[in-house]
Amino acid sequence: MNNVKKSIEPLRGFRELTPEEYKKKKFIIESISELFEKYGYGEVETPTVEPLSLIELKVGEEIRHRMFRFKDLGDRDVVLRPEGTISVARLVVNKMKNEPLPIRVSYVANMFRYDEPQKGRYREFTHIGFEHFGSRSVVSDIEVINIAIEALKKIGIEAFRIKLGNEAILRRILSEANIEQKEQDLLLGMLDRGENEEFFEKLSEKGEEKILNVFRELMKTKESSIGESEQTLKKILAEFPAALEEYERVRIIENFLEWKVGGKYYFDFGFARGLEYYTGIIFELYVPELGVAVGGGGRYDSLCKLLGRDLPAVGFALGVDRLMLSSQVKTAKQKSKKVGVIILEEDVETIKYAFQVVEQLKEVENLNLEIDTMGGSLGSKIERALKKNEEAIVIIGKKEQTEKHVSVKRLRDGVQKSFGYEELKREILEFIGQ
Ligand code: HAM
Repeated sequence: MNNVKKSIEPLRGFRELTPEEYKKKKFIIESISELFEKYGYGEVETPTVEPLSLIELKVGEEIRHRMFRFKDLGDRDVVLRPEGTISVARLVVNKMKNEPLPIRVSYVANMFRYDEPQKGRYREFTHIGFEHFGSRSVVSDIEVINIAIEALKKIGIEAFRIKLGNEAILRRILSEANIEQKEQDLLLGMLDRGENEEFFEKLSEKGEEKILNVFRELMKTKESSIGESEQTLKKILAEFPAALEEYERVRIIENFLEWKVGGKYYFDFGFARGLEYYTGIIFELYVPELGVAVGGGGRYDSLCKLLGRDLPAVGFALGVDRLMLSSQVKTAKQKSKKVGVIILEEDVETIKYAFQVVEQLKEVENLNLEIDTMGGSLGSKIERALKKNEEAIVIIGKKEQTEKHVSVKRLRDGVQKSFGYEELKREILEFIGQ
């Protein structure tokens, strides 16, 4: 018996949502999706199952080990997508060759990672993503960060923090030590996982003292605004002109953020993200009450090249399931009124007439209809309507059908009134009470 019960539970980390829960998810998706068109991001769809070889290209060590990976019936190595950027980049490279640049695309899609389930960490979750292809300008960085902020605000989240870093600075310093890209990915992966000791150990095998020092200094910039650490940073980076150049770009982003969100951002130059495709600014969005990132993104200028076209890009994705956990998200108050439809005699003419009435009432704005299908006495039907918080019931029996009338009972005070079929649509709302 126990075994049967166990086998029908959802798998660990996979969730079922009730209508009430799904309503919150839908509210988040619909509200944020309004920004797709507002900012010109056309929505796209990519496959749920992808070739392992595509995703492995740049997904990074951390996620690579946490993929739902299997052989399909054609003996191909495939994965359930753990993220959307790589697939979207392929779509843009292959299918949007003739579009004028920049190309802006967006998506809402479920992702799969074999993460250890806990609050806000699931094995299937939904991303809302924005990707901007073709521009190297700092304006595209800012556009994307600005949309991320707007998206949070759109669903009522005002208390948030943005953590920023820059992988171009880190990579340019590593390049100075002749560390090639594959190894850079490995090292940055360590930073992402907070394995700082291992990072320095590995680096000391490679780097000169100068490189080690600059990383030690960069690590100290945690939780700072650049303003605070500008002089130090400039000093640290003085010997790395390529990194210093990128730093000037970061200054512009910081200035924008200061204006846009005041103190709600901070820089951490020792911060790297797990995905391997980042090449410039990176950021994560936090809602303090949750303690986990609700979104993340950054610039990835070399991913598209791997897929066949040299296109710089920048983007981000929000984790809808984590946003759902925020008490700051309030779904819009229901404006509509619930009305029950009770069919007294279940003969074919009465049923047909009842559905005709429902058809009419469907045209009344803000009226939601629920036909009672549970049988029983009129008393038990009314009791059920009260439990479902219906404001009124429409009663249809043989008598109403032959006389082309409809009786409506207001549940708040029990008042009942008869309406002609034609006038019902016009008068029902007034009778129920606005
Ligand atoms: P990511 O940071 O790996 O970025 O994922 C984005 C968001 O997805 C996270 O901030 C988090 O809210 C949510 N998320 C991640 N893992 C889980 C999980 N196990 N359960 C629930 N939510 C989760 C990306 O995937 C990049 N593709 C973002 C991007 C787009 N970068 C450039 N463009």
